[in-house]
Amino acid sequence: MKITNLFIVILPLIFIIPLQSATLPPHFTKSITKHSTNPQRYFQLTQPLPSDDIPPACSLTILNHTFGNTYGSPPVTVSYTPPPATCDWSLVVLDFRAECKGEQYDRIAGVWIAGVELLRTSTAQPTEAGIFWNVRKDVTKYSSIITQHNLTLTVMLENIINDEFTGAYDVNISLLFYSDAPVRVPLSIVSVESAARSLSRKLISVQNREIEGRLDRDRMLKSLYPYNNPADLVFPISNSGGVDEGFWFRIEDEFHVQKKNVQISNRTHKAVLELYVSFHGNDEFWYMNPSDSYVETNHLSTGRAHGAYREVLVTIDGKLVGAVVPFPVIFTGGINPLFWEPVVSIGAFDLPSYDIDLTPFLGLLLDDKNHSIGIQIADGISFWLVDANLHLWLDDSDVQAKTLKSKFPLMEIQRQDEFVQLDGEFEIEGERESEVAGWVHSSKGNLQTLITEKTKFKNKLRFKDEGTKKQVHQKYKKKTKIKITDENGQLVETLEFIIKYPLKIFIETKPGSVNDTSVMITKVEQERAERVFGGIESMVLSHKQNCSGLMVVKGSNVLSGSAENHQNYSYADGFGCYSRSVDVVNGDVVGDDTASICVG
Ligand SMILES: *[C@@H]1O[C@H](CO)[C@@H](O)[C@H](O)[C@H]1NC(C)=O
Ligand SMILES: *[C@@H]1O[C@H](CO)[C@@H](O)[C@H](O)[C@H]1NC(C)=O
Ligand SMILES: *[C@@H]1O[C@H](CO)[C@@H](O)[C@H](O)[C@H]1NC(C)=O
Ligand SMILES: *[C@@H]1O[C@H](CO)[C@@H](O)[C@H](O)[C@H]1NC(C)=O
Ligand SMILES: *[C@@H]1O[C@H](CO)[C@@H](O)[C@H](O)[C@H]1NC(C)=O
Ligand SMILES: *[C@@H]1O[C@H](CO)[C@@H](O)[C@H](O)[C@H]1NC(C)=O
Ligand SMILES: *[C@@H]1O[C@H](CO)[C@@H](O)[C@H](O)[C@H]1NC(C)=O
Ligand SMILES: *[C@@H]1O[C@H](CO)[C@@H](O)[C@H](O)[C@H]1NC(C)=O
Repeated sequence: MKITNLFIVILPLIFIIPLQSATLPPHFTKSITKHSTNPQRYFQLTQPLPSDDIPPACSLTILNHTFGNTYGSPPVTVSYTPPPATCDWSLVVLDFRAECKGEQYDRIAGVWIAGVELLRTSTAQPTEAGIFWNVRKDVTKYSSIITQHNLTLTVMLENIINDEFTGAYDVNISLLFYSDAPVRVPLSIVSVESAARSLSRKLISVQNREIEGRLDRDRMLKSLYPYNNPADLVFPISNSGGVDEGFWFRIEDEFHVQKKNVQISNRTHKAVLELYVSFHGNDEFWYMNPSDSYVETNHLSTGRAHGAYREVLVTIDGKLVGAVVPFPVIFTGGINPLFWEPVVSIGAFDLPSYDIDLTPFLGLLLDDKNHSIGIQIADGISFWLVDANLHLWLDDSDVQAKTLKSKFPLMEIQRQDEFVQLDGEFEIEGERESEVAGWVHSSKGNLQTLITEKTKFKNKLRFKDEGTKKQVHQKYKKKTKIKITDENGQLVETLEFIIKYPLKIFIETKPGSVNDTSVMITKVEQERAERVFGGIESMVLSHKQNCSGLMVVKGSNVLSGSAENHQNYSYADGFGCYSRSVDVVNGDVVGDDTASICVG
């Protein structure tokens, strides 16, 4: 956009900067009123839980709360006590329900019991008619916390209410406890459609015996992904000032290390650190941040810089032991908010957590001394909300452990920056190969765990046509192999995890036909692909989204536009599969097919 001298004289300073995708934060609210007058249900594609069709043995409503103007206030805390002993349960699901009406930004929220995080979620942006949604998550792996009395449940959701932003988030949280009886219905007969629902109920009553068999299969499946088996202890690696500030650590830059001292039981024979991560402020779209020199050379006022590589690093006593590039969850105000109604982006309602197996490091930890677990963000800028749960499995008596190998280097990064004024290309490639090993001598024998990991990261960011076109291609692949052998070198167990998180985004910004408005053409293609192989069984998840649209924006407000969102979700394990494909055009679901035919 050409700006005449006259403009520069009369307009406030912020309008002097020409229109570039480079400077506009791709984070918006929308004030488009849909014709609908009824509150609309929003959702995230995910596979149904085996328990969805079964009445719980008992349930607890643990929170009914309206999050109004909560910004800067302490989180909501209530006391938590488990259901009475008469409620016999073996599986527990956290049920999070929210509704909101008016105008509001997307918000981040966390749910903790005794500082242990159970859910990281973000909110959908409401409409005048109102929206509501429901998140269900199997939280059985936190049983050791959920069974304890007199703990504190904390929920943080910072929201701002003023003349412009009117939406208060009304949230109810319950825990649903299921008894050992019929739990797992095969995925192939579970469906969200009500017709299928009654069908599967029939199948449950007719085939009760078979379902009991399937419960065993559920256990087998959980043992395939061993980190889902409840640990004996879950220790929070979170903010000790959590009751006042929320239990997440706020990380402001790459030098900021958040630490927590732990002294773990001598009886620990397995340890896994589970990370919860979300990114905000200048790093909300970290995968689209150009280099500092681009921003400085072009005198841009944005703080969104420092390149497009980020990684969460985990240390024990300052030594690097694990790392993960988080899945780039796009919140509902991100890129183009019209994409995310009523289906939200991959992971927005239930942000993934990441498991780092620390068993080979038990040799460092089992000495009755305090050890510091640290979390930091490689290349991070403000700000990240991160914490972790340390899951510990205990033997009946003391175990001995020794760390044999601990090669876990920083990612080797290569960068290439080429730009002339606002146009250019930034390429980052990173690689790591790690190998860690240790033995643990417990009542289960003298077992050696060897973990090898290969990680590849690639990000290519391009600006064209005076920075009005911005394009990012990112790839991340991590392959982890876990091999457990006994003292004779005989293989006891092998596991392989592969994650791939490819992402493509395109944003073009043009001047709008009306003053101070611009038209943005936006595209997102993204996938969350995860595979687990263990012995003969495997688990495969693929969640893809392909979105394209156009919007007219003024400042950070979307005035009008059109958008399409196509998502495919497919999940398969040794016992069944589930797939759902949803097509949304301009906020209307025009296609929604659920299938249970296992392909491939
Ligand atoms: C939440 O509201 C329901 C329905 O009014 C009520 O039964 C329940 O006790 C409330 N729970 C809490 C924790 O306030
Ligand atoms: C929360 O529970 C209250 C009381 O049962 C109910 O009126 C309200 O609609 C519920 N809100 C949500 C978001 O489910
Ligand atoms: C929980 O706290 C209450 C009130 O302080 C107390 O009476 C009760 O014994 C406690 N329960 C347990 C299991 O500690
Ligand atoms: C734990 O192990 C250490 C080192 O073997 C030993 O000194 C200590 O007494 C043990 N602690 C407990 C609580 O058993
Ligand atoms: C370990 O750290 C905790 C918390 O920082 C402290 O309370 C405890 O005294 C320490 N224990 C030892 C053995 O240093
Ligand atoms: C654009 O804004 C300027 C200054 O506010 C005003 O003078 C002009 O009439 C506006 N033009 C249009 C097409 O709205
Ligand atoms: C979803 O699957 C259909 C059928 O295989 C395919 O045509 C479409 O491109 C897929 N969409 C996405 C977003 O992957
Ligand atoms: C995504 O959509 C675009 C345009 O609608 C199409 O060209 C492209 O092939 C789609 N990609 C996938 C993976 O389905």
